[in-house]
Formats: sequence, structure tokens, C-alpha cells
Amino acid sequence: MSRVWLVLYLATWVLHFVLVSYVLVGSGYALGQSLRGRDDDPLAARIRDLLPFMLGCGITAGVAPLLFLQLLHQERFYTANLLLGPRWGAVVPALIVGFYALYLQKAATTPRWRRLALAAATGCFLFVAWSWTELHLVMRDTPSWVAMYAAGERFYGQSGVLPRLLLWLGVMPVLFAGLAAWWSRGAERQRLAVVAFVGHVIAGVAVAWLSARGSSVDPVARGWLYLLIAAVVIELVGWGLVLRRPDGPGLTIVTGAATAAMLGLAIVRESPRLALVTARPAALEASGVWVFAITAVFAVAAIAWVVKTIRD
Ligand code: HEM
Repeated sequence: MSRVWLVLYLATWVLHFVLVSYVLVGSGYALGQSLRGRDDDPLAARIRDLLPFMLGCGITAGVAPLLFLQLLHQERFYTANLLLGPRWGAVVPALIVGFYALYLQKAATTPRWRRLALAAATGCFLFVAWSWTELHLVMRDTPSWVAMYAAGERFYGQSGVLPRLLLWLGVMPVLFAGLAAWWSRGAERQRLAVVAFVGHVIAGVAVAWLSARGSSVDPVARGWLYLLIAAVVIELVGWGLVLRRPDGPGLTIVTGAATAAMLGLAIVRESPRLALVTARPAALEASGVWVFAITAVFAVAAIAWVVKTIRD
């Protein structure tokens, strides 16, 4: 059963990551264009318009991996810790401020207010990305976690946090560009290809930094690492094609390769934690299939009712 949870965890985490990449990098991109006095850039305008919706999707998609993670790592990963501990609990107000800022930037009537709102949103989402990175590392480091808890400390602050965060800040522009390119054409796609190339350079620097610190890939995941490398090479070729012929087949190649790369990345990322998985028989027995089924039917009916109400 824990294999099913693992697969669901990986799939939902990838979905979550693609959506929050759009939000974080999209906010940064719109802010950059605004600071350059390019508020009239149609690409930035389209991105700004979609940001609140994408954040809603990203947050919703984050709940699923959080719950699967709780099932996989019952002792180590407490959802309650995230919600109740002040350090990681700060993620929730940061997301609320970020959400409002995204609506405010849409309503802003002057570039100054738009910039302020976009800067606030980008800052909040960077904080959230940093928080998840720190939380991921501390959950794998039980002695430090116990010591932190005993001492009432708030920050893990290990030197591994920054290079890991830099890696995500490199992967995110690639995913953002891949998604945003589907709603763009011509020169806009070419600009997004440049964003993706910059993301690859940042990710490359982060990988070199992590390797210099002695991080290596778990032997269990070597095959997935090779898949990841091959997919990234094909994806780069795809972006090259987008640069030459923006409306040609390049974007389809990029999308296929990026999907394979994210699959490989998710498994390589997870491999050091696999040995820590605790599938408890008690949790399986108490699975509550009927409660789940009734709740699922109720949820589908409620969503259908909401959709119908909005349509009418
Ligand atoms: C804009 C908002 C968000 C951003 C930028 C963001 C970013 C990230 C990043 C960078 C990671 C990777 C951490 C690592 O492996 O080092 C991550 C993981 C994760 N995120 Fe998000 N996230 C956001 C919101 C959320 C929300 C609201 C939830 C849950 C409701 C969530 C659930 C998760 C989960 C479960 C993981 C895996 C954690 C782990 O493996 O330890 N995220 N997120």
C-alpha cells in the first residue's frame, strides 16, 4: 500500500511544483517588466491576470502531497508541526498576504502600486519556497530536529539549505517558461526560451555547489538520474528549436522532455528518504474506506453544484 501512496505523493508533488513555479517566477517576471517600465508587455499582462488563479491551484495541489507525506512518514513528518509551529506556521500568513497582493496588483491603477504588490507577492512566495526547503531538510535530520525542538529554536539554518533552494530557483523558471509558452506565440515564446535557459544555468550552478559540498545521488536512484539528464538534454534541444522556430514543434518536445525530467527529479529527490518510510498496519486497517467514499460523493456533488451555480 505504501507504494501506492509513494506514487501518488510523487505525482501530486510534481503537479504542485509546476503550479507554484508559475506563481513564483510569474510574479518575479511581471515585477521585472514593471520595474523596466514595460507594464504594457502583453506577456506580463497575461501572466499577471492568471496569477491568483494559479496560486489557488498550486496551494490546492500542495495539500495532496502533504497528506501523502504524512502517511508515508508518520513519525517524522507531522502536518501539525507545519500548522502549529510558529516557524513553519508562518507559511500560512505569508500565503495569505501573497494571495491578497496578487489581487491588488490586478486592481492597481498606477505602476507604483502594481510594483509594490508584485514585490510583496514575490517576497512572500520566496519565503514559502525557503520554508519548504528548510522543512524538507530538517525532517531528514532527526538529531537536529530533536535538538531544535528541545532548545525551542526556530531556524534549521544548515548550510545545505541555500544550494538546495538555489536548485529549485533554477528549476522553477524552466517549468514556468514551459507552461507560459503554451499561451504565447512568436517572439514571446522566444523570450520564454531565454528564461528557461537562464533557469538551467542557475540549476547548473546549484548542482555544482551541492556536489562540491559532497551531496551525491543515492545508488537506488542512479537509473532515474540518467533519465533526468537525458530528458534535460532533449529539453534544451527543444528550447533551441523554439528559439529558431517559435511556433514549430519545439514546445511539444520541451513539454514531453520536461515531464520526463520532473519524474526523474522527483524520484531522485525522494530517494534519500525512502529508507525512512513507515507504513504502519494500524493506519491501513483504520483506512475508513466508507467514510472516504461518502465524503468523495459529497465533494463531487458540491463541486458540481458550485459549477452549475456559476454557469447559471
Ligand atoms: C507559492 C507557494 C509555494 C511555493 C513557492 C512552494 C515551494 C515548494 C518547494 C521549493 C518545495 C521543495 C522543497 C524541497 O524539496 O527542498 C516544496 C515542497 C512541498 N510543498 Fe510547496 N510551495 C508552496 C506552497 C505549498 C502549499 C500551500 C502546500 C500545502 C498545502 C505545499 C506543499 C508542499 C509539500 C507537501 C512539499 C514536499 C515537502 C517535502 O518533501 O518535505 N506547498 N514546495
